[in-house]
Amino acid sequence: MENFKYYNPTKVLFGNDVLDHLCPEITAYGSKALLVIGKTSVKTSGLYARVVSLMNICGISHYTYEGIKANPLYQDADEAVALAKEKQVDMIIAIGGGSVIDTAKAIAMGFYVNHSVWDFYLQKAAKPTQALPLFTILTLAATGTEMNSGTVLQNNETGKKLGYSAPCLFPKVSFLDPSLTLTVPPNQTAYGVSDLISHALEQFFGKGESPLSDLYTAAVIKLAVQYGIQAIENPSNYEAREQIMWLATNALNGTLKAGKNAGDWGVHDYEHTLSVLFDIAHGAGLSILYPAWLKHHQPGINSKLAFLAKNVFDVDDSDQTTAANFFIQKLAQFYTQIGTPTKLSEVDILPTEKNKILDNLKTNKVNGSVYKLTEVDYEAILELMW
Ligand code: NZQ
Ligand code: ZN
Repeated sequence: MENFKYYNPTKVLFGNDVLDHLCPEITAYGSKALLVIGKTSVKTSGLYARVVSLMNICGISHYTYEGIKANPLYQDADEAVALAKEKQVDMIIAIGGGSVIDTAKAIAMGFYVNHSVWDFYLQKAAKPTQALPLFTILTLAATGTEMNSGTVLQNNETGKKLGYSAPCLFPKVSFLDPSLTLTVPPNQTAYGVSDLISHALEQFFGKGESPLSDLYTAAVIKLAVQYGIQAIENPSNYEAREQIMWLATNALNGTLKAGKNAGDWGVHDYEHTLSVLFDIAHGAGLSILYPAWLKHHQPGINSKLAFLAKNVFDVDDSDQTTAANFFIQKLAQFYTQIGTPTKLSEVDILPTEKNKILDNLKTNKVNGSVYKLTEVDYEAILELMW
C-alpha cells in the first residue's frame, strides 16, 4: 500500500427529513447566511422556500446568490464573494448539486482574500487557511463534493476547467436527504451514476495495491449498477435513490483512495476538455470516455479489469483478456441501458471538432498520474469515442 493520510471532518446527517436538524447545526456559527442555489430546481421543488422558512425559524438572516449553472463559472463565485463581503455573512448554505456546492466552496475561501477565486485554481495564490463555514443540502447524487474538500470551476474565455482542494473547504455539515433527489430527471440521474462509477475507477487505477480499497471500489460499482437501473426504471424509488446518494458520497470522500496514492484522474482531466468546450454534463463526458480509455490501455490493465469483471459482474473467466473485454462491454452496455452516452455523436460532437479537442488537451497538458497521456494517446482515445 502507498502511504496515505485519511482526514475527513465533515459531519453527515443522512436520511428522510434530516433538514429538521438544520437550525441546531448552524446557529452555533452565526446569524447571517448566504444561500447559494442553481437555476430553477430548488424553487420548483419547494426546497428553497422550506430552507428560507427554516432560516426564519432559527433567527438567521439570509441573502441569496442564485443562477449557478451546470459546469460552473468562476465569475459567479467572484460575484457571490462580493455579496458575502458586503453583507458580512457568517456562513454559506449550498442547496443543490455539485455545481452549486463547488461554487459555494470557492465563495467560502474567496471571502478572506482580495483576488479572484480563479487565482486559487490556477495555483497562483497561497493555499487558503480559512474559509467561511459551509453547510450543504444535497439535491443530486453524483460528485461526492458534499463530503470532500474538492471544487471544480471553469473559465470559458481560456478554455480551462480546473479542480482545486484545501482542507478548509470540507463542509462543516452536509444534509443528505434522498427524498430531495426524487425530482432529478433520468438523464441527470444517469450522469450522476456515471460520475460516481468514474470516481471509483479513477482511484482503482491509482498507484499501489490496496485490497480493501479495491474491494470497496468493486462493491461501489456493483451496487451503482444495481440501484442505477432501479432508479432509472422508477425515479420515485426511494430505496434506489437512498443507495445511490450514499454510494456517490463514498465514491469520493477518501475511502476508496486509501493506499492508492489518490488515483489516476486522467479520464477526469480529459473530460474537463469536453465539458469546457461543449458544455456537456460531466457524467455524460465520463461515460463516453471510460470505455475508450479502458480499451486504449489494454492489455496493460487486463488483470485489473478481470478483477472488476469478477467482483462487479460475477464473471470469473480463466482467460484474463476475455474477462477484461467482458468488463468493458458490460460497463458500456450498462451506460446505454441507463441512458448516458457512450459515443461523442450522442452529444452532437462530430469528427469535425477533432482539432479543437486535441488543441485543448495539449494546451491544458491533460494527463493521468499513473497512466500517462501523450498526444498520441489523446488521439487514439478520441478515435475510440466517435
Ligand atoms: O440548476 P438547477 O435548476 O438546480 O438544475 C440542476 C442542473 O441543471 C439539476 N438538479 C440538481 N438537483 C436537482 C436537479 N433537478 C431536479 N431535481 C433536483 N433535485 O441538475 C443539473 C446538474 O446539476 P449539477 O450540480 O451540475 O450536477 P452534478 O451534481 O453532477 O455536479 C457536476 C459538477 O460537479 C463537478 C463537475 O465537474 C461539474 O462541474 N465535480 C465536482 C467534484 C468534487 N467537487 O468533488 C468531483 C467531480 O468529479 C466533478 O468534477
Ligand atoms: Zn467526476
